[in-house]
Amino acid sequence: MTTPKTFHVKSFGCQMNVYDGERMAELMAAQGMTATDDPNAADLVVLNTCHIREKATEKVYSDIGRLRKHGADPMIAIAGCVAQAEGAEIVRRAKVDVVVGPQAYHNLPRLVADAAAGLPALDTDMPPESKFGHLPARRRVGPSAFLTVQEGCDKFCTYCVVPYTRGAEISRPFAAIVDEAKALVDAGAREITLLGQNVNAWTDADGRGLDVLIRALDRVPSLERIRYTTSHPNDMTQELIDAHADVEKLMPFLHLPVQAGSDRVLKAMNRSHTRDSYLRILDRVRAARPDIALSGDFIVGFPGETDAEFEETMQLIDAVGYAQAFSFKYSPRPGTPAAEMAGEVPMAVMDERLQRLQAALARDQQAFNATAVGRTCRVLVERKGRLPGQMLGKSPWLQSVHFVTDAAISDLVEVDIVAAGPLSLSAVERVRIAA
Ligand code: SAH
Ligand code: SF4
Ligand code: F3S
Repeated sequence: MTTPKTFHVKSFGCQMNVYDGERMAELMAAQGMTATDDPNAADLVVLNTCHIREKATEKVYSDIGRLRKHGADPMIAIAGCVAQAEGAEIVRRAKVDVVVGPQAYHNLPRLVADAAAGLPALDTDMPPESKFGHLPARRRVGPSAFLTVQEGCDKFCTYCVVPYTRGAEISRPFAAIVDEAKALVDAGAREITLLGQNVNAWTDADGRGLDVLIRALDRVPSLERIRYTTSHPNDMTQELIDAHADVEKLMPFLHLPVQAGSDRVLKAMNRSHTRDSYLRILDRVRAARPDIALSGDFIVGFPGETDAEFEETMQLIDAVGYAQAFSFKYSPRPGTPAAEMAGEVPMAVMDERLQRLQAALARDQQAFNATAVGRTCRVLVERKGRLPGQMLGKSPWLQSVHFVTDAAISDLVEVDIVAAGPLSLSAVERVRIAA
């Protein structure tokens, strides 16, 4: 196999995988390879995979099949969480050339060279030293950029593969994060979303927490907006909640997954919070920032979940009034404790529960969007809309907002919200704050 000249990276899964995909692309570009949008035209295709549910994992194998059929027989590298979970098993199941785990991808150039030389190329190590020090500097990014500050998970929810695929909780050093934030701003970012599997578990050798990091980023010139995701209820400190009251750049949005509304199910999930302790956190968050948009994750059909327990999830949703949320059917994952639990919920019951849950969430999202009508807010323009002259951006509450304007991508525009749909808002321009 010859050394690839062009590459294509395709990322599945969470925002941290998107971030990793960007970093891998930068790494390959620094080796002199050229990015291409067409996977079938690339010499090297990196599939940056997700293992969270069975469907996500299976998608990888169908993608490999499709590439082998239509592509010019490219070199295929499997990165991400499936690479970590399945390792050499992938090479046995499908014809791939490189397997690289989420903590080892700084070695991708060496692995690609090995594969080109016909050598086995697999690296799923979780080395003690961080990959971040080996990655090239950030060059060009869009107005809204991701920045991974924390990786891994020590929580071991009984249904979840992340503690196995991403390893233990590790925080990047304070100075490295602030430096990368500045580099991102120099590269074009006006908004930065701090990422971590448990981002609010971020801490450093001096015992500082995410709130201190956010306050430091608040002082970075030309950075306009700060967000963070995903948070765990148990790491939601009062200091972080307080930051929502007085850090102007911190956007009024909190993604705080709860998964279920029944204490028995939460215990079986090993969530280490109760329905009540979760709701009390939200009370404190709302006291600090009354207009905050709340988001969550839900799993329906966890082993043994009864109709009555599912109703408790529905009641929790009614009590909170989420601005948006993600919801999933439980998927048993190899190696997790829940996969061995009795009480499998039939697929038809899961389907019905998911449908009811999503209907309630859609209703609440529409209601939340409706409260924005008549408000004035700033929108960060991210891309062109579907209609001529229309641009799309995000409100402080992470809603998509479209409006007619001659503003450019990266402009912050003050708008009046005039109408609300189920998934977006429409607005009229007032004042432009140029980039
Ligand atoms: N660290 C984050 C979320 C990581 S995974 C947290 O704890 O909140 C993203 C979401 O996928 C989870 O919140 C959960 O709702 C869902 N999920 C994880 N494992 C799953 C499984 N086995 N089946 C169905 N959904 C799952
Ligand atoms: Fe998975 Fe739970 Fe860790 Fe989230 S907190 S990544 S759901 S184990
Ligand atoms: Fe998927 Fe791994 Fe993210 S399993 S959700 S890509 S941490």
